[in-house]
Amino acid sequence: MDRVVVEAPASSANLGPGFDVFALALKEPRDRVEVRTAGSGKTKVMMENVGAELPTIPRENAAGAVVLSIARKFKLGGEIHVKLTKRVPMGVGLGSSGASSAAAAVAMDTLFGLGIGMAELVRHAGEGERAASGAAHLDNVAASTAGGFVLVPAGAEPTPVRFPAPKSLAIAVATPKVKLPARKTEYARSLLPATVELNRVVHNVSMASVMVAGFATGDIQMIGSGMDDAIVEKARAKMIPGFAAVKKAAKEAGAAGVCMSGAGPSILSLVDGLKEDPTAVLGSVLDAFRSGSVAAEGFVTSVGEGARVVESS
Ligand code: HSE
Repeated sequence: MDRVVVEAPASSANLGPGFDVFALALKEPRDRVEVRTAGSGKTKVMMENVGAELPTIPRENAAGAVVLSIARKFKLGGEIHVKLTKRVPMGVGLGSSGASSAAAAVAMDTLFGLGIGMAELVRHAGEGERAASGAAHLDNVAASTAGGFVLVPAGAEPTPVRFPAPKSLAIAVATPKVKLPARKTEYARSLLPATVELNRVVHNVSMASVMVAGFATGDIQMIGSGMDDAIVEKARAKMIPGFAAVKKAAKEAGAAGVCMSGAGPSILSLVDGLKEDPTAVLGSVLDAFRSGSVAAEGFVTSVGEGARVVESS
């Protein structure tokens, strides 16, 4: 085998109380990474991007940085050609760099038959996040690699704990058109407080526990009721005009839970598709943005699987 193509999905991180720990893989959209090898000798990585203007210097590109990280660790020689096809929109809180990073990690693992375990795959994929956003947070890459709902334990062994999602869990994503700094995640992280009052920590721990219990038991209402953060969204709310009104609209239209998707500005609504109409929830969120004179667009999807090989030769 000298060529592998892997697709990895967008994801939504934090889900309210789980900053840098929780993320949910979406079914669509998916980034695509093709990795080819040729020749032998000194390692040379060549980077091509399709569908987005991204760095072609490998260490500055999420997929390229992951390929370099794995090539160095396993002392892989020869030319490695990387072609990244971007489909996950960038800078909107849908784990775009995480999707590219996860796809690159799984492509390298498969192509070279490395047998890398999940924790190490996620750690290498984190190097792509570091290149793209300045911080190797592992929530998005874990969801894009493993699929479903994941929590990533902090510390040296980031083996994601994965839960499948309840079958009727639908996802409405709305993205407002707002102007944000170019390195948006870095900016959004700079807004966060260095210290937090204990009562807020207690609130978030309790909500996060409720959410995990909801995924463990497949209870969508419980998942939604745990989607309540007292620390991070408050600090970032100013990035999203009308944030409170939009959340209220989603709840009133039948969302089980609603939160800022990752570092924003997209809004994620979780809906029990057996009881409520996710398209109607999306419509209400878009209307709420428009009532505040903010243009917005969105889509409805469901929970996705992790990175997977779609072609090899
Ligand atoms: N957990 C990260 C953050 C996700 O909220 O900064 C960014 O994609």
